[in-house]
Amino acid sequence: MSKNYKRTLVTTALPYANGPVHIGHLAGVYIPADEYVRYLRLKGEDVVMIGGSDEHGVPITIKAREEGVTPQDIVDRYHKIIKDSMEELGISFDVYSRTTSEIHSRTASEFFRRLYDKGVFELHTSEQLYDEQAGEFLADRYVMGTCPRCGSDRAYGDQCEACGSSLNATDLINPHSRLTSAPVSLRSTSHWYLPLNNYEEALRKWILEGHKEWRPNVYGQCKSWLDLSLQPRAVSRDLNWGVPVPVEGAEGKVLYVWFDAPIGYISNTKEILPDTWEKYWKDPESRIINFIGKDNIVFHCIVFPAMLMAYGDGFQLPDNVPSNEFLNLEGDKISTSRNWAVWLHEYLRDFPGKQDVLRYVLTANAPETRDNDFTWAEFQARNNNELVAILGNFVNRAMVLTHKYFGGKVPAQGELLDIDRALIADVQAAAKAESENLDLFHFREGVRCAMDIARLGNKYLQETEPWKLAKTDMGRVATVLNVSLQLCANLSIAFEPFLPFSSAKLRTMLGLDKVEWQMLGRFDIVKADSELAQPELLFEKISDEAIEAQQQRLARIKEENKIKNFHAEPQAPDVDFDTFAKSDLRVGTVIECERVPKADKLLRFLIDDGLERRTIVSGIAKHYDPATLVGKQVCFIANLPPRKLRGILSQGMILSAENADGSLALITPMAPVVPGAQIK
Ligand code: MF3
Ligand code: ZN
Repeated sequence: MSKNYKRTLVTTALPYANGPVHIGHLAGVYIPADEYVRYLRLKGEDVVMIGGSDEHGVPITIKAREEGVTPQDIVDRYHKIIKDSMEELGISFDVYSRTTSEIHSRTASEFFRRLYDKGVFELHTSEQLYDEQAGEFLADRYVMGTCPRCGSDRAYGDQCEACGSSLNATDLINPHSRLTSAPVSLRSTSHWYLPLNNYEEALRKWILEGHKEWRPNVYGQCKSWLDLSLQPRAVSRDLNWGVPVPVEGAEGKVLYVWFDAPIGYISNTKEILPDTWEKYWKDPESRIINFIGKDNIVFHCIVFPAMLMAYGDGFQLPDNVPSNEFLNLEGDKISTSRNWAVWLHEYLRDFPGKQDVLRYVLTANAPETRDNDFTWAEFQARNNNELVAILGNFVNRAMVLTHKYFGGKVPAQGELLDIDRALIADVQAAAKAESENLDLFHFREGVRCAMDIARLGNKYLQETEPWKLAKTDMGRVATVLNVSLQLCANLSIAFEPFLPFSSAKLRTMLGLDKVEWQMLGRFDIVKADSELAQPELLFEKISDEAIEAQQQRLARIKEENKIKNFHAEPQAPDVDFDTFAKSDLRVGTVIECERVPKADKLLRFLIDDGLERRTIVSGIAKHYDPATLVGKQVCFIANLPPRKLRGILSQGMILSAENADGSLALITPMAPVVPGAQIK
């Protein structure tokens, strides 16, 4: 259960420095974390917000190789873009550091060494894929081959992106190195393993019994991991980029990126608070909150906590791990390699001064409980219909009317009528609901409550009609405008976590300097007789042209991806003719075709290959109705070693072509040929 606490350490998943950050990162992690921290700060709580770039790991080394630069060049480039753009968006880190810092290597190294000295690790030797030509062990991502599940030939050693299965590199069929394209061999190598199984009981107790209040998606994922029972996990890798394993004889080995990165939370706390960092981690009256995306749950709820338990020395486990689901973009999964994203640094360039608009839209539509979609049309609608028409409009009316009737001087409040008292009660109720939502990390609901306050304001002006009262009762106008300005002051507080730039602007207009959360709901914040500044528009409409420009950019990217046939991979390197000619490609006639039970991608074909009938299983079920294929001719590779797919022995592979959207078309001869005809 949530506890009473004196101070809070908020951590944000460290983004990989192999690309800039996009709206998915922002909606999932950085915006909600920043909103939460701003909320706590406004309440006067002791809170520290930790961030930084995750600069190790294989994807960074792959990118460096592709570009012919060093991994350091890559991380220097993206660390700067990420850091600068998040700062410009108002993500108010107390520290944004990097895992290539000196203090981090030292901290991570010391962490490993302590576990090593305590005898926590198990040393296991295993066969790993090795590139003889390059003379290097290959990380899973460096190996490519055919997926044993769906037959895609672009599966990586850790995952098949075609069917989403997670794989072991040794499961791949025909594995080859992405470095040299050479076939890979196996060599034995030793690594240190963290025996997660030893922490299983403690983790169960801590999460399944102790943290039933966690979000259902987080709790549920933890439960399914724990129910599968935990296995030891390797925490080192054969790689030349990372924190060296601090053990004699471990040359060429580094800490696995997921071992060192979460320790980054500790190193970064140390960096910012060299004297008091321990308080935030070890004092039982401190609380740690990890903001992450859903792909990070297991590392934050299982692996890192097990590491901390093993370390001991008073380190506390997180109190909550608010994890979001994924944000899609215009109906498609965000993808860095396919450039299918709205990049923060580009947004800031295209929409200067509109940080709060992005913050608002990504909060109002946050993927808190399920995956959600970002569209430019919704972005425009939320700006024009909510920020401009509700919030901006109310503030502007209150300001302009005060200038008109009172020369910009705040009029005094007279006697309150029922309508005023009802408004105040409604604002107080909305403010209370907002606090309750923020306490529960329900930012989407929270921002809706804040917008409700502005809605109440508009309704109040509509009902009191001060522009009409001005003809008869200036005393009443004074009260209505005073109340309206108090409501503006409330808005500047209620929106401060979400829209820090606009809230600051609003406070300047109202002549307020310091506000605190506890003032929310009060109607004596702005002092009578104080001078208002000139009204400025808080938000402006976003034009159709600006939106169309963004939509066109995405349409162009879709086209480009189609042209690249969506595989971001470069074309395969040349093969000599003899190698190619070893493939026996044939045409066959489909005699039977049916779905493979319980495999929604697979069809079982019976093919007349000229000599006999052969069975081939193909991952094409999503694209064809099997009944329509009987009698058609297809092309297949006839001389692949047979292999079992879902218990069926498949003798070959049927050829198809893939579109940008992942749809597949079977290849067929333009005119009927005899079954078994060779393709040359
Ligand atoms: N870099 C990882 C990712 O983007 C997140 C690392 S979070 C940390 O998925 F805990 F390891 F720091
Ligand atoms: Zn697959």
